[in-house]
Amino acid sequence: MGRVHARAARMAGATIAGVAGSRLEKAQQAGLGAAKAFASADELIESGEIDLVHICAPNHLHAPFALKALSAGLAVICEKPLATDAASAALMAERAAEAGLVATVPFVYRFHAMVREARQRIARGDVGRISLIQGSYLQDWLLRPDDDNWRVDAELGGPSRTFADIGSHWCDLAEFVTADRITGVCAQVAVVQPARGSTSPVVTEDVATVQFRTASGAVGTLATSQVSPGRKNRLFLEVSGTEASLAFDQEQPELLWVGDRGGSRTLMRDPTILSAAARPYSPLPAGHPQGYHDCFDAFVADTYAALRGEHRDGLPVFADGARAAAICEAVLTSARTGRWTEC
Ligand SMILES: NC(=O)c1ccc[n+]([C@@H]2O[C@H](COP(=O)([O-])OP(=O)(O)OC[C@H]3O[C@@H](n4cnc5c(N)ncnc54)[C@H](O)[C@@H]3O)[C@@H](O)[C@H]2O)c1
Repeated sequence: MGRVHARAARMAGATIAGVAGSRLEKAQQAGLGAAKAFASADELIESGEIDLVHICAPNHLHAPFALKALSAGLAVICEKPLATDAASAALMAERAAEAGLVATVPFVYRFHAMVREARQRIARGDVGRISLIQGSYLQDWLLRPDDDNWRVDAELGGPSRTFADIGSHWCDLAEFVTADRITGVCAQVAVVQPARGSTSPVVTEDVATVQFRTASGAVGTLATSQVSPGRKNRLFLEVSGTEASLAFDQEQPELLWVGDRGGSRTLMRDPTILSAAARPYSPLPAGHPQGYHDCFDAFVADTYAALRGEHRDGLPVFADGARAAAICEAVLTSARTGRWTEC
């Protein structure tokens, strides 16, 4: 993710003043176009040469690095999951708010134009009273027993793997688009590959399914998986209400499906027909596809605008990261106890 962050930072006009990795040599070889390599993240944070830190390290390092950066008075972009437990994530959100510092989390799917369009249509009442929110986030990159990653190790990735890694994105997107709040979950998790690399038994889940309810009284379901053959990064969200339904598929981000009793149609991103809320995230004319880099660039550009004191709607901040961490913890608790769990 360091490369994605560095590219977006440059696009937003930043100078990459320094980079740190697990060791000095790694930082020197990072190839991010940084002016300087630091021996450690601590050295980078304490250097006095940085305005904003992008934290793209493994999950267990997010909380210590971000808390240190905030104490040093630095703005922070910290990758999701914000922390490996809900209490640490809440503390990070509290410290950022107390310090009045810009502190954001790359829940970047919020920055697709068609997501903004869906949000705007729901806000203006097109969907009616929301009844059902459902979808999935499916990948296959950890399908086989020899597929391995630091995320598998609970010490590095945290006690939840699949849900924390991708379920967090889905829950943030669902709450963002609907302006509703998941209030309770009933979850199941399963390990499909019990041994990977040096980890045996694997304790972090390969799949998780969640039933949930929301503050407005809607019900929902979510399936997340890193072992679904053929699915690469298939985040799918569908919202149904008393008047209409809307559906968004992250692998087809130029499209938004809209349905009602009279029929359905698929809207293609076109700045000339999009709502004012979606248009800023649609810099290219229709038919010139935008994608992941565009939404990531928009997220970083909006964070930097906030750093200059400008308001940007829908910027995912540490409080949103803490929210996702609380849902994640409720999912694990529910799966362990077999009970509905509030969040
Ligand atoms: N927002 C998104 O869309 C998105 C997508 C993918 C990953 N992520 C998040 O980004 C983070 C990184 O994931 P990744 O897939 O790029 O992992 P990765 O393993 O490819 O990269 C992790 C990097 O952290 C460095 N690192 C390890 N220990 C360090 C230390 N002590 N100090 C400084 N750097 C250290 C490693 O050298 C490596 O370069 C994760 O938290 C992940 O959840 C977010």
